Amino acid sequence: MFCRMRSYKAKMVEPITLPSREEREAALDAAGYNAFNLDAEDVFIDLLTDSGTGTMSADQWAALMRGDEAYAGSRSFSELRDAVRDVMGFEYVVPTHQGRGAENVVYGVLVEEGDVVPNNAHFDTTRAHVANQGADPVDCPHELAHDADADHPFKGNFDIDAGWELVEEVGEDSIPVVVQTITNNSVAGQPVSVENTREVAAFADEIDATFVIDACRFAENAYFVQQREAEFSDASVAEIAREQLSYADAVTMSGKKDAIVNIGGFAAMNDPELFELAKQRGILYEGFPTYGGLAGRDVAAMAVGLREAVEPPYVGERVEQVAELGRLLTDAGIPVYEPTGGHAVYIDAEAVLPHVPKDQFPGQELVCALYLEGGVRGVELGGFAFPGTDRPDLVRLALPRRTYSREHLEHVAETAAAVKESAASYGGLEIVEEPPMRELRHFSARLEPTEAPSSAD
Ligand code: F0G
Repeated sequence: MFCRMRSYKAKMVEPITLPSREEREAALDAAGYNAFNLDAEDVFIDLLTDSGTGTMSADQWAALMRGDEAYAGSRSFSELRDAVRDVMGFEYVVPTHQGRGAENVVYGVLVEEGDVVPNNAHFDTTRAHVANQGADPVDCPHELAHDADADHPFKGNFDIDAGWELVEEVGEDSIPVVVQTITNNSVAGQPVSVENTREVAAFADEIDATFVIDACRFAENAYFVQQREAEFSDASVAEIAREQLSYADAVTMSGKKDAIVNIGGFAAMNDPELFELAKQRGILYEGFPTYGGLAGRDVAAMAVGLREAVEPPYVGERVEQVAELGRLLTDAGIPVYEPTGGHAVYIDAEAVLPHVPKDQFPGQELVCALYLEGGVRGVELGGFAFPGTDRPDLVRLALPRRTYSREHLEHVAETAAAVKESAASYGGLEIVEEPPMRELRHFSARLEPTEAPSSAD
């Protein structure tokens, strides 16, 4: 049984307030019923993302103060390089301003027009960077990936058969890179087994492709492996992380996740030729290779966070807190994707608001309802964020690292229960203004209720 107690105490606090119902209604209306347009100070519990929103440790703050701001040869870079070698096992590091910078650096040199790139499931920015090269990003998710109730320990896995089918269809020469995302953010944060990573490595090797791991949440993934993959039950999270990453030729990393910083990322690899190419592209888009678009202090804090992420009890407490939110929601009668993933709980919006037609965005309506009922901000991942797909409308509640307490989680569950209770008062939404690029519409589109929302408190 896991101890619910957190192994840290607060040293610095930031006040949060719950605006009145009236203020929330006004804020949501002004935001065009899009939670991305809300001012953060109008949000009580902010579960929009776990990216860059976590709480740094005292050691990270100390590193921040000691950061070396030298343009070239910064000591902070050496600290990052050593941390990446020790924790992830890669020799060469190209620092970048965040994860998508690493994607640009890596895919920019490996992928060309007309190529095809398979991934267990592309995260939005990965998909965009592959597409930006003129290539075709193809998802090869586990067959149970989109079954919210199926009980399987590794629903984030890469479907090797789907990979081979793709090879048959497009030919291996069109596939320069194979990617595996751990944990799988686009599949409800589900983990990937080390066995699956070995299989993907063998697959990539057979077709002569470079194997890249999107390692944003590698420590969370290693914790799941320890808990669920028999071979690793006695191994430490640090050992598992190194083993899993050892099968990859390169990683792209967002430090905003499992390096527990507010900004930063990197690409890392062992092949000196790939490093040289990535470094040159890094200079073009990110900055000199010892700072990569970051202040030296950010690089220093990232080096410390990367080491902390694999040291117990941090990541176990983190993943168990997410599971706790899942349980609180389930106990409140809210249907969630199961088992819960590493960084977030995903609510089945179509089950909470069954009367809202799919083309009136039940997921986005649920996001608005959670804000109206309790000042909670989540994000829709369904028909609004992914136009033209038939993905189920899920609402993601992502937990920032080391930030909220059980009482906050209880408030979230009570808020969701209140939405369910008053579900009939929530109609659908229609888009009234959207940007030219449909794929990016959820970040800035404006919507309006198709039926006037209830103003009852
Ligand atoms: N890959 C994955 C799996 C991610 O989840 C993210 C970011 C990125 C790459 C890009 O990293 O933001 O540092 O450029 N995910 C955040 C989220 C934004 O909310 O899930 P970035």
